[in-house]
Amino acid sequence: MIQRIAVLTSGGDAPGMNAAIRSVTRTALEQGWEVFGVRQGYAGLLGATFVPLNARSVGGIIQQGGTVLGSARSQEFMTEAGRKKALHHLAEQGIDALVVIGGNGSQTGAYALSQMGFPVNGVASTIDNDLVGSDITIGVDTALNIALEAIDRLKVTASSHHRAFLIEVMGRKSGYLALMAGIAGGAEAIVIPEFETTPEQVADVIRISYERGKSHAIIVVAEGATYDADKLVQYFAKRDELGFELRATTLGHIQRGGAPGAFDRLLGTRLAACAVEALARGEYGVLAGSIGGRMTTTPLAEIVGKTKALDPDLVRLAGILAR
Ligand code: F6P
Repeated sequence: MIQRIAVLTSGGDAPGMNAAIRSVTRTALEQGWEVFGVRQGYAGLLGATFVPLNARSVGGIIQQGGTVLGSARSQEFMTEAGRKKALHHLAEQGIDALVVIGGNGSQTGAYALSQMGFPVNGVASTIDNDLVGSDITIGVDTALNIALEAIDRLKVTASSHHRAFLIEVMGRKSGYLALMAGIAGGAEAIVIPEFETTPEQVADVIRISYERGKSHAIIVVAEGATYDADKLVQYFAKRDELGFELRATTLGHIQRGGAPGAFDRLLGTRLAACAVEALARGEYGVLAGSIGGRMTTTPLAEIVGKTKALDPDLVRLAGILAR
C-alpha cells in the first residue's frame, strides 16, 4: 500500500510543469499520502535531494513557467548502476511510488525503473509534442504561442524592410512546433525533419513570393531539419537569387521559458491527477496522456523508443495555404 510518493520533473522544462507538480501533490495528499519533491530530475534521485511538499508549498506556482523542482538530463541515471543507486535512495527515503513529469528520455527512465520493479507513472510533458500516448503534451500550447508572437513581430519588420526571414523553432527531431507555428503564423514555407526540403526549394518559395509582390517571405524552420536556419543561411550566402534580402532568427529556449497559458495549466493539472489516480488503483508503469480530449493511461512499454508521427493532413494543408 502506498503511503509516500515522490515527484520529479526531468528533461527540458515545459510551461505547465508547475501545474502538474501542484496537482500531483494535492491529489496525493487527498489520498492520504505524504509527498516529496526530487530536485533536478533524476540527478536528484542520485543525490538523494528530496524535499517534503505540502498543499502550501505548491501554492502560487500554477502560473509560473519552468519547474520549481528544477530539471536536468542525467548521464549517470542512464546506466544500470545509476538506476540502482536511485532505487536505493528511494528505499532509504521510504518512498513507495514515483511520478515522472517529462518527455521521451524521461519516460524511458521511468520505464527502466518500473522494469526494475518500482511503481512509477509518467506525465506527458515536452514542448516537442513527440511523445506517443498523448495527442498533446504539457508545454506545447504555450511554446507555440510564444513562437507565434515572435513570428508575428518578425513579419512586421520583414514587411517594413522587404526581407525574407528564416525563423528557427525548437522541437528536436519533431517538426510539430514548426508545422503548427508555420500554419498559424501564415508562413510562406515550413521546413521540417519529416519531409526533405532542399535549399533550392526554399529559394524558389522566397523568389516566387518576391515576384508575386509580397512584402516579405517567412520561412519557419524546425531545428531538427536537415537544412536548419544556419545551414540555409550558409547556403544562401553564396547566392544572390532570392529577390529579398535574408535574415535569420533562432527562437531557441525563449519558447520554453514562458508562463503557462490556460491550456497548459489545465493539461498539467489533469494529467498529473490522472497519474496519481492510476497509482491509487494500483496501475503502475503507465504514462498519463491526453487522447481524444480524455486523460488516459498507456503502458510505458508501448510508448518508449517511439516518436509520434505528424498528421499528414496538416502537412498537406500547410502546403496548400502557403501561397
Ligand atoms: O526537448 C525539449 C527541447 O527544448 C528541444 O526542443 C530542444 O532540442 C532541447 O530540448 C534543448 O535541450 P537543452 O535545453 O538541453 O539545450
